[in-house]
Amino acid sequence: MASTAWPAFLSSEVAEDPYAYYRRLRAESPVHWDEGLGGYLLSRHADVATAYKSPAFSTRNYEVHLEPVFGRSLLQMDGAEHSRKRALVSPYFRGKGLEMWAPVIARNIAGILDRSVTSASEHLVRQFRPGATVDLLTEFCYYLPVYVITDMLGLPHDDYDRFVAWYSAHIDFLGNLHRDPTIAARGRQATEELWDYLTPVIHDRRRHPGDDLISALVTAEVNGESLADDEIKTHITQLLNAGSETTGKALGSLFTHLLSQRELFEAVRADRSQLLPAISETLRFTPPSQMNGRQTTTDVQVEGVTIPAGSLVMLLIASANRDERRFRAPDSFDPGRDDLDHEKAFSAAGEHFAFGFGRHFCLGAMLSRSELLQASNVLLDRFPQMRLADGFQPHWKGLKMRAVEQLLVTL
Ligand code: HEM
Repeated sequence: MASTAWPAFLSSEVAEDPYAYYRRLRAESPVHWDEGLGGYLLSRHADVATAYKSPAFSTRNYEVHLEPVFGRSLLQMDGAEHSRKRALVSPYFRGKGLEMWAPVIARNIAGILDRSVTSASEHLVRQFRPGATVDLLTEFCYYLPVYVITDMLGLPHDDYDRFVAWYSAHIDFLGNLHRDPTIAARGRQATEELWDYLTPVIHDRRRHPGDDLISALVTAEVNGESLADDEIKTHITQLLNAGSETTGKALGSLFTHLLSQRELFEAVRADRSQLLPAISETLRFTPPSQMNGRQTTTDVQVEGVTIPAGSLVMLLIASANRDERRFRAPDSFDPGRDDLDHEKAFSAAGEHFAFGFGRHFCLGAMLSRSELLQASNVLLDRFPQMRLADGFQPHWKGLKMRAVEQLLVTL
């Protein structure tokens, strides 16, 4: 079929129901040129896996899509440079280093649930208590990962609104596939503000290092050299950004699925061994980050199509995760499915691509596993009667990042 018969990738029609569009792409045009994007779309599981692993699909696209707001981050590096720079932070995201944060996560979950929240829009003071109606997404799910990462970095919770404004502007910049100049300018402005904010913090940690991640970065040495302030700011910007909205959306999506099929909520509540499969299936079925860009370094053949060197290629995570060639009944949310190893979901051997795949596999996957498991367990314990609020219909939104807009629940 000629590509003119296709809706534009960046159209509202696709954003409304990307999964229907992706199904058609997989069937009819698995390597699809989209004029508005100015790039190719890869939609099948096997092709996306190959692209994540192949050096012919580089992350050079991030020079334009990310570097202006992050600086030169891990995502852009490869080879020895990537291994060295990732090794500076990876000990804090796995094994013993990760275990250190379990009490921080537990404290923050309790802290958020035990406080009163003043809802700015309704001027109401809300409390997380049985029978109350709250927006679980914005009043709980989004707070938790920001509080956790800011504790890890040793930054104050009081600046939550500023952190959210900054990382939201960065996520909009990254998702600015339409190349809207206002969004681009807002992203750059956010970096200026965040980096000004971080300058005195970094200087202070150089003089008085503590046991937080910023102190670890200021005292770290790579080949006998310490990191420059801007490199530290890049790491912090990336950590603040990468783990916040993604984890919040994953938690909101999980509870949307569980509460939309009450029997699943009850089953998971009664048997917590079903919780990890439900989380992993949520990440397959509705990945928060729906795609990653790449740039080809040479001409590459995929499914009989030649993608020229220097092309932008979107690896469609959300499509690969529902490829009928890989998963049975891919459009069903089924935590009991036997064609997905849930234990592997948070490792580089993961069978779906919610956390990417290959060299740039998500650094924070195990941290988010810990946050999602702990938070869900507490919510299930405290609010066994939780249900969707009367008359509330979840509405999914977003193309690059996707989740429900709100999650109104009665606790
Ligand atoms: C459910 C939550 C999360 C999701 C869905 C997610 C998703 C992803 C994806 C898809 C990538 C690959 C990007 C690419 O290849 O272009 C990635 C990389 C990354 N993520 Fe996550 N992420 C999550 C949580 C976190 C957390 C909690 C952190 C840290 C606080 C984090 C830090 C990173 C970093 C630093 C990278 C870049 C790794 C590298 O280039 O080597 N992420 N993430």
